[in-house]
Amino acid sequence: MTAASSLQRSSAHPAAAGALPVGAASPDDTYVVEATNLTRTYEIRRGFFTAPAKLQAVGGVSFVIRSGKTLAVVGESGCGKSTLARMVALIETPSSGQLRIRDHDAVGGSAASRQPLRKSVQLVFQNPYGSLNPRKKIGGILEAPLQINTALTPAERARKAKDMLALVGLRPEHYDRYPHMFSGGQRQRIAIARALMLNPALVVADEPVSALDVSIQAQVLNLLADLQQTLGLAYLFISHDLGVVRHIAHDVLVMYLGHTVEQGEKTTIFANPLHPYTQALLASTPGLAGSGAARQRIVLKGELPSPLNPPSGCVFSTRCPHVTERCRQERPPLREVGSRQVACHYAEQFLAP
Ligand SMILES: Nc1ncnc2c1ncn2[C@@H]1O[C@H](COP(=O)(O)OP(=O)(O)OP(=O)(O)O)[C@@H](O)[C@H]1O
Ligand SMILES: [Mg+2]
Repeated sequence: MTAASSLQRSSAHPAAAGALPVGAASPDDTYVVEATNLTRTYEIRRGFFTAPAKLQAVGGVSFVIRSGKTLAVVGESGCGKSTLARMVALIETPSSGQLRIRDHDAVGGSAASRQPLRKSVQLVFQNPYGSLNPRKKIGGILEAPLQINTALTPAERARKAKDMLALVGLRPEHYDRYPHMFSGGQRQRIAIARALMLNPALVVADEPVSALDVSIQAQVLNLLADLQQTLGLAYLFISHDLGVVRHIAHDVLVMYLGHTVEQGEKTTIFANPLHPYTQALLASTPGLAGSGAARQRIVLKGELPSPLNPPSGCVFSTRCPHVTERCRQERPPLREVGSRQVACHYAEQFLAP
């Protein structure tokens, strides 16, 4: 049996019924994740006698991720990407909203009923140094999840770990080495291998290539794309870099200050971004500046507002070059314009003819 076939899994489950956000496809598609209005609020203590302030890190985000597809979440630092990733990876509980993973409720219900879901979702972090135990050999690192979650014999575990090393482009002799003996790119391959040991349906990758040299980034992105093809994996891919997103995403969700400002298919959004924030992000990305996005070239001015004190009206109103009084007063709802969803009162004005 090849490494790939021994790791193959079946992801078929019935598609959910009902209205779904843009990014949803035909009913015979399978949804690995359905998030509806996911919200996360933190209480920030400012002093002993003052009431805690409320910081809304994620303010009602909805999306679906189809089996074998990648949803990329993009936005500036502090816009809530990692908070969203942690909720979908089941390591942080949403303050409100629904989350279904492989057609099971991932928020409500008992901890025991959610336990099997934890195996279906695995996380890959930005920093491959910090996430690998330096005192453990690679074999032990890869086999630890099997030891806890399966009844495989030591020989079977070692076989599976070595198959996985091959699948992520490492060699069998790497099994006996320690993390410090690897380069950054190789360590990220090990972290990816570890995430795949329990055959997850979904991998949440939070800036997985941001710490790597640009030349190595492409190799790891290609590996992720190959693994997706071979194993039918769904990815929630977090990045601040639209150049990276262009390579890996099928769907894109652009966040600003905890809110979705635009979401839909990558090709649609890259060809004709409708939200001024998406336009600014695309225009500022090297290599993309010559694309359709740059025709409405705008440069982001000013600071990101504090999430403790977000603007009333449109969240982007304090930095938008097209701002009007209406934008300052009235929050634009996320609505369908030009085959995607966008939260701008004036989105139609940016539609390409
Ligand atoms: N545990 C926490 N307690 C309080 N505030 C938090 C906590 N985690 C995140 N925040 C706040 O929530 C907001 C969103 O943070 P988050 O880490 O999700 O952003 P991000 O988009 O991942 O940023 P970056 O690109 O820098 O990683 C920030 O204002 C952050 O300070
Ligand atoms: Mg983050």
